[in-house]
Amino acid sequence: MAIAPTFDIQLTEADFREQLRTDVLWGLSGRRKWLPPKWFYDARGSKLFDLMAGLPEYYPTRTERALLRVSVDEIARRASSATELVELGSRSSVKTRLLLNALTTHGSLCSYIPQDTSENGLRAAADWTSREFPHLSVHGIVGDFTTVHPALPHGGRRLVALLGGALGNLPPFERTAFLGELHQALRPGEQLLVGVGLVTDPAVMIPAYDDAAGVTAEFNRNVLHVVNDRLGADFDPIEFAHMAVWDPDLEWIEMRLAATKPMRVTIPDLDLVVDFAAGEQMRTEISAKFRLPAFRTELAAAGFRLRHAWTDPEHRFALVLADR
Ligand code: AVI
Repeated sequence: MAIAPTFDIQLTEADFREQLRTDVLWGLSGRRKWLPPKWFYDARGSKLFDLMAGLPEYYPTRTERALLRVSVDEIARRASSATELVELGSRSSVKTRLLLNALTTHGSLCSYIPQDTSENGLRAAADWTSREFPHLSVHGIVGDFTTVHPALPHGGRRLVALLGGALGNLPPFERTAFLGELHQALRPGEQLLVGVGLVTDPAVMIPAYDDAAGVTAEFNRNVLHVVNDRLGADFDPIEFAHMAVWDPDLEWIEMRLAATKPMRVTIPDLDLVVDFAAGEQMRTEISAKFRLPAFRTELAAAGFRLRHAWTDPEHRFALVLADR
């Protein structure tokens, strides 16, 4: 019989709302406006993300998935001492299923610890995983993946997976802090599996963030809908144009929203009035792309040793296994 899943709510609705208030206040009060990408993902944003993942231009999801399919057995063999799989930002059931199957076959996995900000999504994931893998104990953590380390159970030997390229959405200083804190939270012998987009041809990368059907544009504007819905703001999302720009120096794609005309936005919940000049751009996401030699150094600086990297034939995406 399946063991009933347990949950740890690290982040309540009230905390989440407080974080949004802080981010919007800081992000929109300065001279250069920005909003962090984590606010794309309400129910509508998550649906748009799933749509985007299936678009011909958006190669990361299908590339990582195909890569995982062909390499998952080898990954599991190299991680065969793991008894617990911690999946940070567990959004994709396909990838989870592949990992759980392989780690069960090649090792002695006994628990699955998914983390997500959405309690509903997490409960659904806990439900199907405990039905399909009744031998696993499932413990869901509702929280932010960048601050979840102290809440991780530490009874067994953990493999922490951060897939989908999510690491690239953190600004460099947050990425460094995240890797360092994760290293501190893990014990020697525990491992990290991370999926990262690689630097490739801008003619491939840019359309992935600016698709012909305009789904990414709508996803980008969704952050304004979220601020409207949650903080009572009066953004007119359609008056913001979607932009996706490749920065060749910083090697990241930057998504921005550009005001198409001068606008004044009121955010009653924050007692804030924000003016936009015509053409003013607001940053909404960075999506860093990596080069493996530099990533090896970055991991080493945090204390991890890159053990193996798997890449697709076109070198657009990598799955990297690192030892604590
Ligand atoms: C979730 N994250 C890794 C995606 C990315 O590619 O940076 C988010 C995304 N933004 C636009 N399309 C997808």
